[in-house]
Amino acid sequence: MIVITSVKELEDALAPVRESGQSVGLVPTMGALHEGHASLVKRCVDECDVSVVSVFVNPTQFNDKNDLASYPRNLEADCELLRQLGVSIVFAPSVEEVYPEPDTRTFSYPPIDTVMEGAKRPGHFNGVCQVVSKLFMFVKPERAFFGEKDFQQIAVVRAMTRDLGLPVEIVPCPIVREASGLALSSRNQLLTDNERAIASTINCVLQKSLDWAKAESVKQVTARVVSELDSVDGLQTEYFQIVDGDTLQPISKWSDSDSVVGCITVYCGQRPVRLIDNIRYK
Ligand code: PAF
Repeated sequence: MIVITSVKELEDALAPVRESGQSVGLVPTMGALHEGHASLVKRCVDECDVSVVSVFVNPTQFNDKNDLASYPRNLEADCELLRQLGVSIVFAPSVEEVYPEPDTRTFSYPPIDTVMEGAKRPGHFNGVCQVVSKLFMFVKPERAFFGEKDFQQIAVVRAMTRDLGLPVEIVPCPIVREASGLALSSRNQLLTDNERAIASTINCVLQKSLDWAKAESVKQVTARVVSELDSVDGLQTEYFQIVDGDTLQPISKWSDSDSVVGCITVYCGQRPVRLIDNIRYK
């Protein structure tokens, strides 16, 4: 495994790979890697000849300075895990390397990026598109692997890839959970043990909502999920929306779509830590 910090070195390393016709896979990450990332990396290593993992905390996708400052970072531990997983190249650039000049490009894919995370974190998806489009241009992967925890991010990245005409297949990978049901996230490191236990209620309630959905309306299930979670000391739901899995638009009846997903963001604990999760109804 080689660790590369410059775009030029990365392009030089990948040129012979491409000439020999080998396939290249990319796993974009912001580091602080956990088993969820490991599952994406394993697929990339298994399914592509050469696997590139980027580790870059992208400042342009943070709309909150404190969130950016407190985002966990540990490149050494990340590289150790990636070496064990058999990764070919780790790309860990500086901010100046990725953004030698401020990125003034704007990406807008309404209505997919205007709801939920798009509404709550203005500019977030623009920043995600800025960095992912750059990574796609630097690495030119055939396939790129993304975790389904960030359900809306996958839809936005797909829209961007189509818009820019990039020949990259976006591969969604299932959420990995702790035994308690808590979706793995780099932000979980910021939770105390007690908060972690409380946070596992998010998935418990989402699981229960699968049953409620058999007898109750979309509106009733939405309200019940929010009220169950908000009744737990230390949890505060930011939003829970039951949406069409393709358009990400809220549905009003279960029969409105063949693909239905409930997307949630909950604040947990003292700090508080912002946690996201989702559940598929059909
Ligand atoms: O999902 C993430 O970790 C980030 O949004 C991504 C895709 C690596 C872009 O910075």
